[in-house]
Amino acid sequence: MADSWGNSPEAGAEPGTGADLHLELTGPGSIRVQLMRALREAIGSGRLAPGTRLPPHRTLSADLGIARNTVADAYAELVEEGWLTARQGSGTSVAKRAAPLDPGQLRAPTRPTRRLPAYDLMPSSPDAATFPRTAWLTSTRRALAAAPNDAFGVGDPRGRIELREALAEYLARARGVRTAPDRIVICSGFAHALRLVSTLLRGPMAVESYGLDFHRDLVTEAGLRTVPLTVDDRGAKVDELSAVDTGAVLLTPAHQFPIGGPLHHDRRTAVIDWARSSGGVVLEDDYDGEFRYDREPIGAVQGLDPDRVVYLGSASKSLSPALRLGWMALPGWLVDDVLAVKGPREMWSGVVEQLTLADFIACGSYDRHLRGMRHIYRRRRDQLAATLAARAPHIRVSGIAAGLHAVLELPDGTEQAALRGARRQGLAVDGLSPYRHPESAMPPRDGLVIGYGTPPEHSFTAALEALCLALPDPPQDDDQEQPPPRRGGDRFAKPGRAVTRPTA
Ligand SMILES: Cc1ncc(COP(=O)(O)O)c(C=O)c1O
Repeated sequence: MADSWGNSPEAGAEPGTGADLHLELTGPGSIRVQLMRALREAIGSGRLAPGTRLPPHRTLSADLGIARNTVADAYAELVEEGWLTARQGSGTSVAKRAAPLDPGQLRAPTRPTRRLPAYDLMPSSPDAATFPRTAWLTSTRRALAAAPNDAFGVGDPRGRIELREALAEYLARARGVRTAPDRIVICSGFAHALRLVSTLLRGPMAVESYGLDFHRDLVTEAGLRTVPLTVDDRGAKVDELSAVDTGAVLLTPAHQFPIGGPLHHDRRTAVIDWARSSGGVVLEDDYDGEFRYDREPIGAVQGLDPDRVVYLGSASKSLSPALRLGWMALPGWLVDDVLAVKGPREMWSGVVEQLTLADFIACGSYDRHLRGMRHIYRRRRDQLAATLAARAPHIRVSGIAAGLHAVLELPDGTEQAALRGARRQGLAVDGLSPYRHPESAMPPRDGLVIGYGTPPEHSFTAALEALCLALPDPPQDDDQEQPPPRRGGDRFAKPGRAVTRPTA
């Protein structure tokens, strides 16, 4: 007897009724689910054109070796979904509107093919191979086992209390930050924090003449003009703030990015004096404050006045930029406003990562990881310095007392040639020019920004070799053979010498 869709057992017995189908039943789910998926795929890819009549239940069930009811159920559901149509007496067909995708749509989106560089000395990431997988997994397990049920509810817009408590303790101990868990707000990295805080500010924001253009763009997108401050070997010249009509300044006090060097003590106090007298606010980007090699890390400026400094930290250099975890230690008066712009939920960080990081800090794994990484990066820093001293003594290196990057100062007009040379060597490296604020009064400088944290250990030596081959030759002129006089900071005084102690 025919069913209501005309799939009579007899119809299936007739030759020529219904298409011959090649369907592969694979993947997760029941046989019915697999059959539906296979039919959807055949229709979606155009293998089954609109209007094509499908084999009757009995035929297809026999072909595929499955139950007739399973075919009947799958057809019925696909009719419901609109992929198939069924009419009494004429069987089941592919619906007219189930048009196949344009074959072009099925292809993976094409990107211009770019040859991946063989070596990566970009200053963006820590060595991804050193992510502490085992310790992180241990913390995840422990954190999940200990988490109260409410951790998996909507939660607190400031972030998990466990993480805010762990950070308050860690930041006080390791970075000299004066804060409390209820003044900490978790976010998805420094960039997120900068966007949130910029949204709340009015008027132009002072920034360092050299910095990440991406960060300047975030400020501009929030509707604020950026005004560049001169940077010298004592950091940003914060005395220029008095001449600028601004209520906020963004600084990298522990390690100026990318030039290097900490903000001089006098300027640390001067910027706090400016904030107090003008009612302004200092945004402190402490992106790599833990990595200092030749002496104790320099504490955060925030410790001088927690009510005038917004401290911004991130796991991007210390662990991985892929975690998208950052934190703000805010003045009390700013917390509610920041939470208001953070909004309800869509911009919150995942709770499992937060709980894991809380455990990772609390059990000492974070300190251990940082100690280990400091050792690794210091060794790389020394190798970079020694290699350049031996192979390119005419190139000055600066910003090397801390962090994961250094600046190679190049002779005027040679940056583009060095970048082309690097490309020829299969080396990804950044020029210094894009970091310069376009309105900066500072004369443009030629240089390369070298991220020595990024390459995996096994390719670091080869990456340095590629770098040396890309660097400009020493000047031929006798007058220029000697490097220019030291301008202070963490430079290398003489070719062939190991690291000199930084003066700043
Ligand atoms: C100057 C500077 N600030 C902050 C960060 C951290 O940014 P995010 O936390 O958004 O990854 C970086 C990169 O790691 C940086 O280079």
